Amino acid sequence: MIPDSFKRDLLNRVDIVDIIQRHLQLKKAGANYSACCPFHNEKSPSFTVSPSKQFYHCFGCGAHGDAIGFLMEYSGLGYIEAIKELAAGAGMTMPEFEPRFGKKKEETGPDLYELMRRAMQYYREQLKASPQAIEYLKQRGLSGQIAAHFGIGYAPDGWQNLQAAFPDYNDKSLKEVGLVIENEAGKRYDRFRDRIMFPIINQRGFVIGFGGRVIGAGEPKYLNSPETPLFEKGRELYGLPQARQAIRDAGRALVVEGYMDVVALAQHGVGYAVATLGTATTPVHVQKLLRQTDEIVFSFDGDAAGRKAAWHALEVCLPATQDSKTIRFLFLPEGEDPDSYVRSKGKAAFEDLVGHAEPLSAYLLSQLRTRTDTNTAEGRSRLVHEAKPLLKSVAAPGLQLQLLKQVADIAGMTQQEAERLCEMRSTPAPGAWQRPAPSKVARAAVKSFELRLLECVLVKPALAGELSGEIIRGDNLEAQALLGLGEYVRANPDVSSEIMLIDHFRGSPYETLLKQVRSELMILGLTPEQAEGEFRDALPGLERRRIHEQLNELQRRNKTGVLSPADIEQMNALTKRLAGLDRRPGTKRPVV
Ligand code: UTP
Ligand code: MN
Repeated sequence: MIPDSFKRDLLNRVDIVDIIQRHLQLKKAGANYSACCPFHNEKSPSFTVSPSKQFYHCFGCGAHGDAIGFLMEYSGLGYIEAIKELAAGAGMTMPEFEPRFGKKKEETGPDLYELMRRAMQYYREQLKASPQAIEYLKQRGLSGQIAAHFGIGYAPDGWQNLQAAFPDYNDKSLKEVGLVIENEAGKRYDRFRDRIMFPIINQRGFVIGFGGRVIGAGEPKYLNSPETPLFEKGRELYGLPQARQAIRDAGRALVVEGYMDVVALAQHGVGYAVATLGTATTPVHVQKLLRQTDEIVFSFDGDAAGRKAAWHALEVCLPATQDSKTIRFLFLPEGEDPDSYVRSKGKAAFEDLVGHAEPLSAYLLSQLRTRTDTNTAEGRSRLVHEAKPLLKSVAAPGLQLQLLKQVADIAGMTQQEAERLCEMRSTPAPGAWQRPAPSKVARAAVKSFELRLLECVLVKPALAGELSGEIIRGDNLEAQALLGLGEYVRANPDVSSEIMLIDHFRGSPYETLLKQVRSELMILGLTPEQAEGEFRDALPGLERRRIHEQLNELQRRNKTGVLSPADIEQMNALTKRLAGLDRRPGTKRPVV
């Protein structure tokens, strides 16, 4: 836990205008500054920064916070990372701090990053000294400039070469960052030997991992850094820092499968490509990219594996869709990857393919069609059945409506009929789909009460004060977290931002859950008003569920004939209460 006094000093020392200005072009507007909001898509600026309050606030999407919050949102940093970055910029030394809850992962100090940087330097120098490695890169069409742009290097053959770069080869950190491996006998050796080295650099410019390719044939073709305190594969995209400017210029990001694809495309002037690191697309990937651009094109090889990966990416994208953003899918001809294609056909031909990539909606519908026989009633029904979970998870209300109409069309039914079959409540009111946040309907349909309440509480912590064991039951993690938050907020009524909540529960069993909810919120962009509304809407549903549980229990006991007069009285009271709840205007059927 970082002491509050340090945080206060730090926030006093830095100027939020300065911090934000490094990332956005701020315009002076009276006492404040304004810009187009980086957290949602807009044409006229509703994002304001107040130098006197040292706060930012977006009137469009409700994003708000202090300098720490801004770095967390904008650069995707963790709370501690954000503080570290601010402290480093302000020339302040981080205090030693103890985690609040029992055991913790070793804090990752900047020294680990320094080790990785030194390793990259070492590999780069070794590349210069290896004619054979240079020849390999040349033969793959790469120039010295591009190799330098990506920091490409070479790990020479041999077991302990890194000793040359790290005099203390036994430093436990070397193992921690995955540069050396220790065998059972305690003997250490370099992980990467005789491989072309691709450093994986995060958005802040730190080296967090490596991918190493064999020269020529050999297994495995690519050896990657293991997951370490610095490196979590599912969160990172290879080439993102190098592609950032090009993504901005092109207005799109291209997601490819391999290191070499990214590098070869850059060599041919297509600088806006990034690669997943041998993992399937994750929500974090999508979220990161959508924060930087309005269009993502996913490129996949045209084989069965590529199709499968594409469908997975589509499923991951649906909850992240926004009506102001486009997601498309590109399938390369069988046997080609972006590297081979751009090398043989050139930049223009490749970009032509990208320009004609299939929109998410078209891909989704064509896949549904090929899976079912729309000439039979059964096939058409099945199509709707398969479309249902997909449609429900679409976050962009406009897109959801468009897809629903088309599904209805293909299935030969009216929109209302399809809506009913998909259990989607009535069409959003005119204008409602223009809201930045997805419709409540879409959200309610796929989430438990507890998750929805957690979202609301993170957006408006004061709401948590209303939660008690009376309302929240159940032993699932979400329910427990809600109770924990409730207790904490009641004891600390001045808790006003999700950052403070997440900070307090760092290291607790709820940490991961809260962070997940928080990333979800970044996509949803729920305003405090919307959060309060949802919260109020959800409470009766919870109560209803609790009453049902109690009634079920009473009925179960009734079957065995042991109901006391008090039980019967309680049963009547519960039934009455339930009827009362069902009459409440504006309440909805519970989603359990
Ligand atoms: P590919 O096998 O498609 O390789 O793996 P590639 O990108 O075309 O590489 P070149 O052109 O033969 O050099 C795609 C990605 O999958 C991961 C790597 O991230 C690679 O870039 N991968 C592949 C591994 O992690 N390990 C492997 O052994 C193979
Ligand atoms: Mn390839």
